[in-house]
Amino acid sequence: MKNYVYIGLLGLGTVGSGVVQLINDHQEELVHQVGCNVKVKSILVRELEKERNIQIGETYLTTDPNEVLRDPEIDIIVEVIGGIEETKKYIIEALEAKKHVVTANKDLIALYGPELQKMALDNQCDLFYEASVAGGIPILRGLADGFVSDRIQKLMGIVNGTTNYILTKMDEDGFSYEQALKEAQELGFAESDPTADVEGLDAARKMAILARLAFLTEVNLEDVEVSGISKVAVEDLNYGKKLGYTMKLIGLANFENQQLEVSVQPTFLSKSHPLASVKNEYNAIYVNGEAVGETMFYGPGAGSLPTATAIMSDVVAIMKNMRLQVNGNSFVGPRFERVLKSPDQRFGQYYFRLHLKDEVGAFSKITNLFNKLDISFEKILQTPLSKEDLAEIIIVTHKVSLEQFQTALMELSDLPVIKNVISYYRVEGDGK
Ligand code: HSE
Repeated sequence: MKNYVYIGLLGLGTVGSGVVQLINDHQEELVHQVGCNVKVKSILVRELEKERNIQIGETYLTTDPNEVLRDPEIDIIVEVIGGIEETKKYIIEALEAKKHVVTANKDLIALYGPELQKMALDNQCDLFYEASVAGGIPILRGLADGFVSDRIQKLMGIVNGTTNYILTKMDEDGFSYEQALKEAQELGFAESDPTADVEGLDAARKMAILARLAFLTEVNLEDVEVSGISKVAVEDLNYGKKLGYTMKLIGLANFENQQLEVSVQPTFLSKSHPLASVKNEYNAIYVNGEAVGETMFYGPGAGSLPTATAIMSDVVAIMKNMRLQVNGNSFVGPRFERVLKSPDQRFGQYYFRLHLKDEVGAFSKITNLFNKLDISFEKILQTPLSKEDLAEIIIVTHKVSLEQFQTALMELSDLPVIKNVISYYRVEGDGK
């Protein structure tokens, strides 16, 4: 093994700076693990002259990607610039030049992970992406290595810190969605354009990556059904509290009889569910395996140094593989054919908020409909509304299929006694 392993870094933003700092500050730990020094040799940046709060010593800064990607001394490329198409080209170039690649880029891996993984394998290179999901939480290695002998059946994740922060503020401090988003932006959790976070796309990308590793099946980004939190009202959160729930943006992935379901949606969780205690910008992934039972991984889902620890775990894994000369077997490939569950094979409980005419026999129309559809009520709340002779009704069903739920939703909207179906959410019990 050489005395030094050289890294080429693509990007010196928040995460890139964290990588440089961690390598500087924790060199002894790295040497202990891998038996040689690790050094960032050069960094691709957008501007050479920008003022930075990081000591880069002799590291060479360049705006020319080729100076990093084609440097024969560099063994490992760490990509933290983000973006998709141009970055994909850089990664392909690196793999073709027989360099191992570490990336934090969930957008890229969600879309092109399997293709890039194959290319890495063909070039006998490693491609790792631990930092792409839930920042500092070592969940990908947990799934790929920790649970290697188990069969994972269900995975639920709070994998977006921005939305978890917003929902916590709405739930605990009574903020409106807009107030909570503004505060998240002021504190730097939310981007100035928060669309990908609040509409669930960021979480969907992470769930596609998680589900591939958990269930060893192909998962396309389009397989993930997504709805975000921008329409969530404080009124629903208040009803949720009365019923013993808290609301979270939950990524749900289920695998039964080799059939798959993946979704991201605002979900009422029972307060006794392990994920219910995950607050503010924190992330957590709850994994239920046939042998291991319930587990939960908790921690920071973003941030400079937490994300850098995930990146360095990949770098160390690559260096250990280099020593053993076994690069090119990164994580695990698919084992099962991709088969999606149909709506009659997907089950859950549902919450409805309805405005109903406050008149004799109105509620029985709902009861009749639910009887007809074989849907049983678990909880019911009714509050008279002062105007328009309406009552506000909250219904939580027992477990039903998605097909039953969708039919109920359609037929409820058509009932003359129903003025409006105001909202509906999935409900999760205590996790078992
Ligand atoms: N924007 C993400 C979040 C962090 O709010 O969790 C990066 O994936």
